[in-house]
Amino acid sequence: MLITALLIWLLYCATQSSGIIIEATPAANSDGFIHSELKETVSLTCKHETPSEAEAELVWLRNDSPVALKEENKKGESRICISPVIHEDKQANFTCHLRSNASVRASVILNVTYPPPLSESEDVTVEEESTLVLRCNILASPPVSSVAWALNGSEVDLLTGLFTITNDGSTSRLSTGKVQRSLHEGTYQCTAESPLYGQRSKEFRVSVKAKTTRFPLLPMIAGLVVVCLTSILAVVSRWEKIVKCCK
Ligand SMILES: *[C@@H]1O[C@H](CO)[C@@H](O)[C@H](O)[C@H]1NC(C)=O
Ligand SMILES: *[C@@H]1O[C@H](CO)[C@@H](O)[C@H](O)[C@H]1NC(C)=O
Ligand SMILES: *[C@@H]1O[C@H](CO)[C@@H](O)[C@H](O)[C@H]1NC(C)=O
Repeated sequence: MLITALLIWLLYCATQSSGIIIEATPAANSDGFIHSELKETVSLTCKHETPSEAEAELVWLRNDSPVALKEENKKGESRICISPVIHEDKQANFTCHLRSNASVRASVILNVTYPPPLSESEDVTVEEESTLVLRCNILASPPVSSVAWALNGSEVDLLTGLFTITNDGSTSRLSTGKVQRSLHEGTYQCTAESPLYGQRSKEFRVSVKAKTTRFPLLPMIAGLVVVCLTSILAVVSRWEKIVKCCK
């Protein structure tokens, strides 16, 4: 009983200061953080603590930029909805204050979490002796704790020197030069470990096809362009002659 009362009091103190409170759905924690996932809806209502000031105008800021409000949504009580929650809302700060006195304010921070977007699988065809590059998007909140690559179910062995793996925090990239069917064909899988969502992985079914001599596409296009230009010029100069005759 006492603990519940204390918690409610703490929650109350966190979201209000000097005359203004923010009521959030889902509710903010005791540090003023609201936990939300992508595509969800967060609604925030700002109001006066004391009804006596109920007519004073309110202002909403998102990361210090004003939020556009309809006229009827400014006086006494103001409600905004973040719908849907997007990646950019991560750590976004929402502040409400009196227009007449910006130091009468309350704030909450959105804490958006999402898993790395790894699920579907992909078919990849690569030519023998070319370079194979596979990429997994591992951007997540909180960040993933590890990424592992497997080929045909066993972890890719970097010591063989066959593969290079790089990770820049948003993409994990496995690459290999000089592809050979016997060494490189198979099913690859990247698996990212999220502290919140567990393992997520993506599969690549890689087939290696025999090397073909490339069709000389670029020289062909260049040739075609020259042919076209010449015929256009021919028509133009002919046209000038015809026009001169007619005068
Ligand atoms: C704004 O509000 C604060 C806190 O209530 C108060 O101390 C201050 O005097 C007010 N300023 C003005 C200009 O009313
Ligand atoms: C946001 O949520 C994540 C996952 O629940 C947590 O690890 C992190 O500490 C939270 N961040 C803040 C600033 O509360
Ligand atoms: C992976 O498995 C496939 C299918 O069993 C096989 O054809 C391929 O050679 C294997 N790849 C490697 C590198 O062992």
